[in-house]
Amino acid sequence: MRIFSGIQPTGRKHLGNYIGAILQYVEGQQRAADAGDVAIYCVVDLHAMTVPWQPAEMRERVYDTAAILLAAGLDPERCVFIRQSDVHEHTELAWYMGAVTAHGDLNRMHQFKEKSAKQRDLVSADLFTYPVLMAADVLAYRAHEVPVGDDQRQHVELMRDVAQRFNERFGEVLVVPELRIPEVGARIMDLQNPTSKMSTTADSPEGTVFVLDDAKTVEKKFKRAVTDSDDPPRIARDPSKPGVSNLIDILAAARGSSFAEAEASLADARGYGDLKAATADAVNAMLEPVRERYTALRADEDALEAIFAAGAEKARAITQPVLADVRQAIGVGSRG
Ligand code: TYM
Repeated sequence: MRIFSGIQPTGRKHLGNYIGAILQYVEGQQRAADAGDVAIYCVVDLHAMTVPWQPAEMRERVYDTAAILLAAGLDPERCVFIRQSDVHEHTELAWYMGAVTAHGDLNRMHQFKEKSAKQRDLVSADLFTYPVLMAADVLAYRAHEVPVGDDQRQHVELMRDVAQRFNERFGEVLVVPELRIPEVGARIMDLQNPTSKMSTTADSPEGTVFVLDDAKTVEKKFKRAVTDSDDPPRIARDPSKPGVSNLIDILAAARGSSFAEAEASLADARGYGDLKAATADAVNAMLEPVRERYTALRADEDALEAIFAAGAEKARAITQPVLADVRQAIGVGSRG
C-alpha cells in the first residue's frame, strides 16, 4: 500500500492544511511502512508557479514548508520526502498524461475557475494544466492512496480517470489511486466566515489560524470566532450551525477524538465561550511542540537540502522504472 500526497510551499500553512492533510501524512508514513511499502510526501514548488510568484521567495517558502512538515512528525528515514522540481519524472510524465486528459474535463475544474477569476494579469497555461501535473505526481509512483482534504476531491477523481484512460489505451501500466479524506476535519472552515473553507487567501486573516501563530494569537482568533445567536446556545453539529459545527470539528481533530466525544465533553458548558476556549486550548496543545521544533529545523537550510537530496534519490528509484514502462507503452524514446 503506497501513499502519495503533495502540499504547496507557503510558510503560512493553516489549521485546514494541518488537520485535513498533515495529520494524515504522519499517520500514513507508519501505515505504509507496516504494509511493507512507503509513503511519499512532496513539496510542490512547480504547482506554486501556476499563479504569480517571486523567484527569491520560492526557495524560502519551500524551506518553510519542509520545516513545518518535519516539525509535525514526518520522518525522512521512514518516508520519502521530496521537493517536486528535484524529480524530473513528474514533469515528463505530466506531458504524457496530457495526451490522455480531456480539455473539457480541465475546463470543469472548480479550482481553475476560482483561481483564474482572481488573476488580474496572466491566466497561465500552467494554471489550466495544473491537475495534469498533479496526476503525474501520483501516477509516477504507482501510489494506491492519496490523502487530501475535501477541496482536492475533484483533482483526485480526474487523476483516476486519466490513469484509467491510459491503461485502457496502452495496457495496465499505471495504478488507479484511491482518494483518502479524513473522517474528522476534511473541510475546516474560516472562523470569521464559517461557510467558506479556511484558506491562505481569505479576505480576513482573523478567520485563518496559522500553524506558526503564537498561542496568544490562536486564543484571540478562537475567542472572536463567529458562532450563532441560538438562545439558549446549543453546542451541536448541525448544518444550520456552521460556526459551532466547525469548532466541534476542530476540537475533535485536535484532540484526536470523535465528534460525539467532543460534543459530550461540553455537555456542562455555559455557552459558546467554553467551546471556543476548549478548542483554542486543544489547538495550542497540538501545535505548540510543532512551533518549537520548527525554529531549529528552519534554521538549518543545508540540512533541509540534504534531506531533499536523499529523498530525491529514493524517489527516482521508484519513478525511473515507471517512466521506462510508460515510454515503452506509448512508443517514444529508444526501443529499450
Ligand atoms: P494545498 O497545498 O492547497 O493544500 C494541502 C492540503 O491541505 C488540504 N486543505 C484542507 N483540508 C481541510 N480543510 C481546509 N480548509 C483545507 N485547506 C487545504 C488540501 O486538501 C491538501 O490536501 N493540489 C494540491 C497539492 C498537490 C497534491 C499532489 C496533492 C500537488 N500534487 C498530488 C495530492 C497528490 C494543493 O494545492 O494542496
